[in-house]
This record gives sequence, structure tokens and C-alpha cells, in this order.
Amino acid sequence: MTLQFSLGPVAPETVETPCVVVGVYENGVFTSAAARVDTAANGAIKRQVESGDISGKAGSATVLFGPEGVTAKRVLVVGLGGQKSFDGARYQKVCIEAARALGRLPIDGAVCCLTEVEVPGRDAAWRVRTAALAADYAAYRYTATFKPREKSTQPELSALAFAGGDDAKAGLEQAAAIAEGVRFARELANLPPNICNPAYIADQAKAFADANDKVSCNVLDHVEMEKLGFGSLLAVGRGSVNKPKLVVLEYKGGNEGDKPYAFVGKGITFDTGGISLKPGPGMEEMKFDMGGAAGVLGAFVATVKMGLALNLVCVVPAVENMPDGDSYRPSDVLTSLSGLTIEVLNTDAEGRLILCDALTYTAQTFQPQVLIDAATLTGACVIALGKHASGLMSKHDDLAAELLAAGETTLDRAWRLPLWDDYQAQLDSGFADVANIGGKNAGAITAGCFLARFTEGQRWAHLDIAGTAWDEGRKGLATGRPVPLLAQWLIDRVAG
Ligand code: BES
Ligand code: MN
Ligand code: ZN
Repeated sequence: MTLQFSLGPVAPETVETPCVVVGVYENGVFTSAAARVDTAANGAIKRQVESGDISGKAGSATVLFGPEGVTAKRVLVVGLGGQKSFDGARYQKVCIEAARALGRLPIDGAVCCLTEVEVPGRDAAWRVRTAALAADYAAYRYTATFKPREKSTQPELSALAFAGGDDAKAGLEQAAAIAEGVRFARELANLPPNICNPAYIADQAKAFADANDKVSCNVLDHVEMEKLGFGSLLAVGRGSVNKPKLVVLEYKGGNEGDKPYAFVGKGITFDTGGISLKPGPGMEEMKFDMGGAAGVLGAFVATVKMGLALNLVCVVPAVENMPDGDSYRPSDVLTSLSGLTIEVLNTDAEGRLILCDALTYTAQTFQPQVLIDAATLTGACVIALGKHASGLMSKHDDLAAELLAAGETTLDRAWRLPLWDDYQAQLDSGFADVANIGGKNAGAITAGCFLARFTEGQRWAHLDIAGTAWDEGRKGLATGRPVPLLAQWLIDRVAG
């Protein structure tokens, strides 16, 4: 269930709500809302700070039930950590923990005053937007493939009010749209590959286009792609009965004739590795190998919901990588849509093989002003940057700076890796224009360098989201990244 958000001035000691949320720093310093509640409640918070029951440790959450002197049924006291080191990242973390704590309570609504806390370098709109996105993130539940449960009789959190003025309104509106995009991406990526196959992704895109003005959808099937010459993309899909689709979404929110922005997302609905088969343990995580597709589709959804005044195209090559009697194999030479030939040295380096054709198609068909791809492309990127930053590669310093800034704004952060031509020699082949792998050194960069060969003349950037698209572990869910980064980048483009 998506949360309903609202915004307005709040008197924390007299607000009628099942729960009011206030913050306390580690050194026992109260935020103004906490101080007001504490005074009205005759020192109820202070006593718990003194007893050590409330530490103020970042992300800690303590519920006071039915304190006298305040109208809220409960007060949720959230720890903000040290006051001196308090920053945007901490604020976001604290908001997520507060939302998790609210989700565990038998309440259907709450009022959050954390949005009034000063965050260095961030304004009120940012604080409200970040809190709303954090709350919706924490409220998301994956339920699609569980046995339907009896509706619980306990109330569930469905409405959240934030303390703030009109200056934060735009932040809340953006949050609602971006939250929808993030949910779209997370749900699509979490679905198992026997449901979320190439045709399913195409159907989801079509359904979105049908439901939204200014959006149209066109899907190329493997027969059409065969005619057009998608030799690289089709080779990857040949081992699967779930035939490849190229999903093309267009949003016309800008002037006619304005060149579109273009997103391309890797949509490998399952990556077994193909004939270069992956080891068994952990292979199930490769259902998330369409995380780039989910991310660009989610950013597309957010853009449409915000009604941004720009034109956007979103292209998703949706393909399953399977071993089969008809699979492509190491040493095959493929002719890509661009005409460049590719020697396959590893069928598990398949993402770049579907992306190169999708990028060529997008550049030729739409002449975009900017072309950005997102892909769970390399394990090497996870080794380099871990699960906190997406890898960003671009030959355009200004475009890279824009994307890094959007990542900082949303805390959906990226870190840049070089695309110097020095690395290109690792992709040399004796049998084709380019090889599909570049050896063990700099694996994330050589994957980017491979794509660079197909995007010459384009204002292009590549996001490797292999580490950021989903959380670790058996219960790890899709994160919806890089939806916030991409949505913010477009917001910034419209703002000029
Ligand atoms: N989808 C994987 C990359 C990946 C691996 C993402 C682990 C997230 C976690 C990609 O298709 C792949 O298999 N890449 C290979 C490339 C290698 C064969 C050059 C890799 O990273 O091992
Ligand atoms: Mn692979
Ligand atoms: Zn892959």
C-alpha cells in the first residue's frame, strides 16, 4: 500500500494523532518539537533520557504510550546521533528507522516532526521529500508470490503528515511521484524470472502507456529485430524460449521538436551465464539482472507522474540468458546493429551485448540530446565500490558532474570511474572488431569501454548498478536505485 502524505504546520503537543514523531540528539539535546512535547508531558522524555532508556543513538526509536499532557496517543522518540556530525545521510537513515518503527505499531496514521530538524546544506523541501521517500521505502512490502493472507485486523500505517510550510510543498509532490517510480522498479525487479520474463516487462510498459496521456509504447519482437539487424542482442536470447523484446516508451511532456533525453536499461530477466554457466550458489540473485530496466522504467514513471516539461524515451532490451542446444557460444562472432563485429569470449558478459544494440537503436531512432544507460553490468563494480555507490562512467565531464550532483542530492550516490582510451586495448580481438571481455583487470571500466565503442558521437553516460540495485542476502529486496538519481537529474534539467 502506498502511503498518503500531507504537509502542514504542527503543534506537536496538541496534535490529534495515533503517534507523533520527534527527535533527540545523542548528547541529550532536544529538537524543538521534542522540547515542546517534553514540557507539555511534564518531563516524560527527559526522565527516560536520564534513566538511559532513550540514548539518542542514531536510528534508535522509543515509544511512549499515552503520556499525560499531550494529545497524541503515542510519542515516538527517534535518536538523531551526534548533533555536530548530523548531516543529510544521517537524516535519511533516521527517517527510515522512524518509518520502520511506525510500521511495527498498530496505527494507521502518524505525524512526523523530524522534517523541522536543521540539516546542513539542505532546505525544507529536501527534508520533506527525503522523509516521505524514506517512509514509503520502509513501508514497501513484497507480497506478489506469497499465499494470499487473511487481511489482518490490526490497523496499518497508511497516512503520514509532515511538519512543514508551503516552501516544502514541491518536495512532497516530487516525493509522491518518485516513490511511485521506486515502487514500480522494486516490484518489477523482485518478481521471479518465471513471471517477469521479456514479454512481461513489455506488457507492464504497455499497460503504463495505456494508462497515461502523453505516453506511447512500441515493442519490437525478435522477428522485427532480426530484420533490423540486432545480431548481438538476439544472440544472447537464442538459448531461451522466452524470446527477446525491445521495449520502447516515449513521453512527450516537452515541446514538439525538442530532442528527447534517452534512458536505456539492461533487462536480462535471468542471467545463468549461458554456456559460460555461472556457479550454482547465488545464481538466484541473477533474477535482479533486469535491475537497470526496472530502474529506467521507474525513472520514466516518476518523470511522467511529475509531469516534467521534457521529452523522454526509455528503451529496454529484455532478454533471458540461458544455456541450450541453440545458445550462442564462446568464440562466436556476432554482427551488431552498428555493423561492428564482436568476438564472444564469455557468454556471461551478455549485458553489454544487448546494450550495444539497444544503444545503437536509440541513438539512430531518436537522436537524443543525452543518452544514459543503467545496468547491473559487472561483478567487478561491486568489488570496486561495494553496495553504496553506483559506478558512473562518461567521457563528458559536465554530464558526469550533473549525474554525481543528482546522486548527492538524493543520496542515491554514484562514483566516477575513468573511461580512458588506455583501457580499450584490453578489448582487442584477433577475429572481430572487438571482444566482449577485457580480462581480469578493471572489469567495470572495460565493460564501459565496450559500450563506449557503440556510443561515439553521443552525449552518453553509463551507470553500473550491479552493487546498488538490490540488497544482500536471502531476503534482500530490490532497492529501486537509480530511480531517485535519474529522476533528480531530470528535475535539475528542467530547472535549468
Ligand atoms: N549480471 C552480471 C554482473 C553481476 C554479477 C551483477 C554479480 C551483480 C552481481 C553480468 O552479466 C556478468 O555476468 N558479468 C561478468 C562479466 C565477466 C564474464 C567479464 C562478471 O562480472 O563476472
Ligand atoms: Mn552475465
Ligand atoms: Zn548479466
